Amino acid sequence: MADHAYVTLATNDSYAKGALVLGSSLQKNTSKKLVVLITPQVSESMRRVLDKVYDVVRVVDVLDSEDSAHLALMERPELGVTLTKLHCWTLTEYTKCVFMDADTVVLQNIDDLFEREELSAAPDPGWPDCFNSGVFVYRPSIETHNQLLQLATDQGSFDGGDQGLLNSFFSTWATKDIHKHLPFIYNLSSISIYSYLPAFKAFGADAKVVHFLGKVKPWNYTYDGKTRTVKGDAHDQILTHPEFLNLWWDIYTSRILPLLTEHGVVKDVATGLKALSGLVCSLAYSCRFCKEEEVTEAVSQMSIGAAEAAPPPPPSVSSEERRERWEQGQVDYMGADSYENIKKKLDAYLQ
Ligand SMILES: *[C@@H]1O[C@H](CO)[C@@H](O)[C@H](O)[C@H]1NC(C)=O
Ligand SMILES: *[C@@H]1O[C@H](CO)[C@@H](O)[C@H](O)[C@H]1NC(C)=O
Ligand SMILES: *[C@@H]1O[C@H](CO)[C@@H](O)[C@H](O)[C@H]1NC(C)=O
Ligand SMILES: *[C@@H]1O[C@H](CO)[C@@H](O)[C@H](O)[C@H]1NC(C)=O
Repeated sequence: MADHAYVTLATNDSYAKGALVLGSSLQKNTSKKLVVLITPQVSESMRRVLDKVYDVVRVVDVLDSEDSAHLALMERPELGVTLTKLHCWTLTEYTKCVFMDADTVVLQNIDDLFEREELSAAPDPGWPDCFNSGVFVYRPSIETHNQLLQLATDQGSFDGGDQGLLNSFFSTWATKDIHKHLPFIYNLSSISIYSYLPAFKAFGADAKVVHFLGKVKPWNYTYDGKTRTVKGDAHDQILTHPEFLNLWWDIYTSRILPLLTEHGVVKDVATGLKALSGLVCSLAYSCRFCKEEEVTEAVSQMSIGAAEAAPPPPPSVSSEERRERWEQGQVDYMGADSYENIKKKLDAYLQ
């Protein structure tokens, strides 16, 4: 139905990377509308990329609005991100929506969620009488939005974030209607897999959504483009089941990096960005810039970039030679063309 949408929120360029991967996973699994709410912190170039993946990119600026959201924020500045998330209730062009945090990825079609009523969500791993606000079904309504803002101003949030506020507002969730409890397969978080291994074994094959809970997000890891695996230390809980992190990075490198690259280049023809595009393309396989003449220049720029980094540059190879190797698919994954170097460039560019 045209009046159904999946909605997410990106408050900065890091989270926008998450939103892009989520959006891409949704694109593959549903034909419903995709909406991303962004704050003014999200850069112009990132907005253009979001526009390629999402049907609607809407800027929500609590500070600019003359309405009650602004007033609520004046009284409780700590609720900035929470009040921004509440904006999802103002999308009244849709009758029903599924909100998903930018650190989630869908693994299968989850359109059956739209058969559920507001507010449906999965129990929080840490506190099962509360729902987790990472994925929830809701009905946009200005009235509900205003009531939520009122509650935020009057009481704040018991956990300082949107989860506390939404749990106070939809306080009958735990007891009233069991249909509003999403089953475990919507509740699979890569952290909780670790502590709930039996549950994972039972439901893992049916997993529909992965939620990367915790402070360290998929985009905080280093990915080896050659082996297609995420690097990290063995004590890292999230890496106990690395398949979901690898999936995240697989989507990111194959579908998102080419878009980021393309749009960076279109906006800014600075040589550094061309260098970036050449390198990223060679890893991400499918970008039209690989075929362009800039590659020679890109190679020489990248040698400079590599020389600035701590490890000594590899034995010098002329730009021509490197370009040839490149075109033959012989990328110096461990040296100047290593994913880490590329990622550094990309991060610097995204800042
Ligand atoms: C980006 O936004 C998220 C969520 O609002 C926040 O936790 C994170 O610290 C922000 N990161 C940066 C670099 O501002
Ligand atoms: C759903 O999305 C996941 C993650 O992007 C992907 O692996 C899977 O193939 C998609 N399913 C379909 C039917 O395309
Ligand atoms: C949701 O996951 C947590 C652990 O991650 C578990 O305690 C809880 O029972 C799950 N909820 C459902 C409905 O399966
Ligand atoms: C994750 O990366 C972002 C930048 O992309 C950074 O702002 C944030 O502090 C990092 N978080 C952790 C826990 O390393």
